[in-house]
Amino acid sequence: MLSYRHAFHAGNFADVLKHIVLLEILAYLAQKEKPFCIIDTHAGGGKYALDSDFALKTREFDTGISQLWQRDDLPPSVINYIELQKRFNQNGQFKTYAGSPLLIKQMLRPKDRLCLFELHSTEVTALKENMKHDKRIQIEHADGLKNSVGLLPPFERRGLVLIDPSYEMKSDYSDVVKTLVQMHKRFATGTYALWYPVIERGRNDALEAALKKSGIPNIALFELSINTDNSGRGMNASGMIIINPPWSLAATLKTVLPWLAKTLGENTAGSFRVETLVAEK
Ligand SMILES: C[S@@+](CC[C@H](N)C(=O)[O-])C[C@H]1O[C@@H](n2cnc3c(N)ncnc32)[C@H](O)[C@@H]1O
Repeated sequence: MLSYRHAFHAGNFADVLKHIVLLEILAYLAQKEKPFCIIDTHAGGGKYALDSDFALKTREFDTGISQLWQRDDLPPSVINYIELQKRFNQNGQFKTYAGSPLLIKQMLRPKDRLCLFELHSTEVTALKENMKHDKRIQIEHADGLKNSVGLLPPFERRGLVLIDPSYEMKSDYSDVVKTLVQMHKRFATGTYALWYPVIERGRNDALEAALKKSGIPNIALFELSINTDNSGRGMNASGMIIINPPWSLAATLKTVLPWLAKTLGENTAGSFRVETLVAEK
């Protein structure tokens, strides 16, 4: 039984980092003319109304997008992200947050492909409606972790797998590592982007240790904290673990993450990590 609904969390500081990193990887893939394939294993509903009861109950967007969209001092990759979000908000108000499927769709060229998986029946109905018919996009009402492995390698031999689970179950932390190992065996040159929350730091330490032992080379980690660990207020940090990152990504995030930590950090408690978890072979 799935109870997670991303509408409670859309546009929070974790989405900000996740979607900036996603767009950087997509921009890098689009530098070459050859088509690419993107797999989004946990797609969600596609877009979220920030004036819905869900969003207003938590107001998590106040930790993220609300603090950014009207600023005029944004770093370039944050500008790209905000400009894409503004396409869905054209009346001078920010009421719609575009999730990963719609952001990816904006970056697709005629021959690129997008495969979306979503397990929650309400979310997948919304996703189908929000994505409109598009022959480049396939939507599956299915388990994205189990079913995406068989799609690899994509015939384009270029692409990204975004893995963005809700971590409702503790086993998600080990399941994502097992799945990444299977995926990497089938498509070693692909880029993989795994989102993670920091709720109990011990689980993240175990996740990082498992990836270091996995035998997969070339893994980078980018994390944003808006407050210190264990401040008793749930998720204060989250990050992206990237296998085969674009060579330019770490340099970009070394500029963007300090800025985000300063801008979104609560009472100057923001911080960040830019690390190589496993070096290139
Ligand atoms: C964090 S949200 C996705 C947000 C989306 N990727 C974005 O950035 O806009 C996680 C989604 O995964 C769905 N989900 C949970 N387990 C799943 C699974 N095994 N396969 C596919 N979807 C799953 C949930 O219903 C939820 O909508």
